[in-house]
Amino acid sequence: MMSSDHGPRIAIYPGTFDPVTNGHLDLVRRALKLFDKIIIAIGINPAKKSLFSLEERLEMVHETIGMNGRIEITSFDGLLVDLAARYGACAILRGLRAVSDFDYELQRALMNRKLDKRIETVFLMTGFRWIYISSSIVKEAARFGGNLEGLVPPLVEERLKKAFGVTGS
Ligand code: COA
Repeated sequence: MMSSDHGPRIAIYPGTFDPVTNGHLDLVRRALKLFDKIIIAIGINPAKKSLFSLEERLEMVHETIGMNGRIEITSFDGLLVDLAARYGACAILRGLRAVSDFDYELQRALMNRKLDKRIETVFLMTGFRWIYISSSIVKEAARFGGNLEGLVPPLVEERLKKAFGVTGS
């Protein structure tokens, strides 16, 4: 017989969040229908050079989400599975946008399962409105003064403009 877990169902949503976009926020909102609690975990991807410091990224997520007893926001710099175990999470949550995400995500999901087989990776399809965006493409548009309305929260748009010294669009 399959064992059943009666504790709260906690998912870790890891990412670089440089910066957080409406696509990320949509994913969190939808995942709250599946999990009791979501831990947004801002990590360090050594392959990426971030525009915003870890503190700034944390601050933007905090300010955007506000107070929600079912969402916790944290940062981490070790193994993702260790963080998941510390929180008693049953799942790692990731968003899939296009087929191009698949190979990379499959590799990471299998590696994470190899590292800790108790934790499953759960994928949600990114909302259609945000299927083409990434933090990088948003930063590129911001750098050249593009209009980001509907793609990132207003406060993130402001921070991006400030970071690139852009005034209005
Ligand atoms: N809406 C908008 N954008 C989305 C999205 C969505 N729903 N889902 C994914 N993306 C984008 C992100 O904006 C990001 O864009 P970018 O590449 O332009 O920055 C990209 O898709 C995916 O990157 P991200 O979600 O930030 O994750 P990552 O691949 O950079 O991984 C960690 C970051 C911290 C999760 C990862 O490095 C990690 O797990 N580190 C811990 C070390 C570890 O445990 N390693 C072994 C496990 S394999």
